[in-house]
Amino acid sequence: MSMTTGITPIPNVLQSQTGFAVPPPLEAEIDELITHYPVKRSASLMLLHAIQEHFGWISQEAVEWIARKLSLPPINIYELLTFYPMLRLQPMGKYQIKVCRTLSCALAGSAALHQQFCDRLGLDAHKHGPQTTVDGRFTVEFVECLASCGTAPVMMVNEDLHEGVTNTKADEIVAQCK
Ligand code: FES
Repeated sequence: MSMTTGITPIPNVLQSQTGFAVPPPLEAEIDELITHYPVKRSASLMLLHAIQEHFGWISQEAVEWIARKLSLPPINIYELLTFYPMLRLQPMGKYQIKVCRTLSCALAGSAALHQQFCDRLGLDAHKHGPQTTVDGRFTVEFVECLASCGTAPVMMVNEDLHEGVTNTKADEIVAQCK
């Protein structure tokens, strides 16, 4: 607890990215993007997407860079980053395994499916948020409804949707990623 204000400071969940540098073509693209908005601040989310598309995640340095670019305090970028789950606060694995945990999939056993992936990949299924293997190959996480409730349990590996995933099929999916 802060000694001066009595308010517990909010933890900074951002990670540092050594050598962060936006390449000139991306910066030119971002500068052009900003011109589409009457107020620079309105481009915040688009800049976060552009940076994430290039680097795969958003670091402390990226937040500060975007804030400088839009003449905003970094907290204005931080609050967006921590609100939208599609924005990544850490590097993701090459293969991103997303297991739906919403009702139909939960009833069809998605928790056990998630546990199976974590067990096979040496990850802790009970930790909050995305879990990534030490070799950076796999990230496993729960997500909300993937809009295929009739074929539960459903999951994705990167952009590929897998439906009616059995234990056997789950193992095959992991094997195909290696
Ligand atoms: S509940 Fe899983 S896809 Fe809708």
